Amino acid sequence: PEAELEARFQAVIDRKDRIEPRDWMPDAYRRTLVRQVAQHAHSEIIGMQPEGGWIGRAPSLRRKAILLAKVQDEAGHGLYLYSAAETLGVSRQELTEALISGRQKYSSIFNYPTLSYADMGTIGWLVDGAAICNQVPLCRTSFGPYGRAMIRICKEESFHQRQGYELLTTMMRGTDEQRAMVQESVDRFWWPSLMMFGPPDDESPNTAQSMAWGVKTHTNDELRQRFVDMSVPQAKALGVTLPDPDLVWNEERGAHDFGQPDWAEFWEVVKGNGPCNAQRVAHRKKAWDDGAWVREAALAFAAHDGGTGGA
Ligand code: ACO
Repeated sequence: PEAELEARFQAVIDRKDRIEPRDWMPDAYRRTLVRQVAQHAHSEIIGMQPEGGWIGRAPSLRRKAILLAKVQDEAGHGLYLYSAAETLGVSRQELTEALISGRQKYSSIFNYPTLSYADMGTIGWLVDGAAICNQVPLCRTSFGPYGRAMIRICKEESFHQRQGYELLTTMMRGTDEQRAMVQESVDRFWWPSLMMFGPPDDESPNTAQSMAWGVKTHTNDELRQRFVDMSVPQAKALGVTLPDPDLVWNEERGAHDFGQPDWAEFWEVVKGNGPCNAQRVAHRKKAWDDGAWVREAALAFAAHDGGTGGA
């Protein structure tokens, strides 16, 4: 009976073991995982756009090779995650259609424009830094395929973070104009980076259940705090100012106090009204539509030779 299955399922989670695709799981657990893993996959794929537009404008061959590798990694991350989602019984086609029609979300951060090459550095440092903070704990998430995908993703994210920080370090050693570009970029990306962790805990409808299921292992506010504490010394070493007048070390807590992002802006972006939402989704839709002939050809080929791939 259901209650017994549920008890066995919860016992696996409580001993920090993993749920695998063929194991019994509550429908709501499956739904929450499809929601989170799909949103995560979509974020990787949509996340190629803000940087992809700069590949042709990279200032040197070295910078171009780095950026190209990073954007390709993001495509790979999207694919690992779509594969993990597929083990839950949804197809990539369904997921892509849910993204394009606005039924599924992707990270708010990718709805902000990239205005200068310094943004390539800031995205690596802050956006990928925030992603690592959020994703390292997910390596131990309760659903096996998701956790295993995260291990490889985190290794690649570390390279992304490093290349961004290195780019900014180089610019900070340059001219006054370059230093100003870095500061301006950090000013724009700091608050949206804090928003990546999701709404404050008391406004996060999913956190409690996701923690009980071991899907999330930390709350949104816990990870946001970790990210702020990690970023402050890095900003100092870089020589930039984080644009938060309330940012101060709290000796008693052993952590930084900091200001709140504009949560009204966050919800607008999540609802689809951010600066680049329409553009990002339209671009993805065009790529999906333009690729229809490839999917059709692959299916026709598989049907023709019995799916053996010509072997
Ligand atoms: N951008 C867009 N939507 C968000 C964001 C965000 N930054 N934060 C929260 N939301 C959405 C949630 O998806 C949820 O909506 P839904 O119920 O319709 O799905 C709603 O806001 C309320 O938030 P929570 O209850 O806090 O949602 P959840 O428990 O899923 O926590 C979080 C949100 C922290 C983003 C979680 O889903 C997560 O850890 N996801 C995996 C990491 C990820 O997706 N990273 C993508 C960006 S990093 C990168 O690609 C480089």
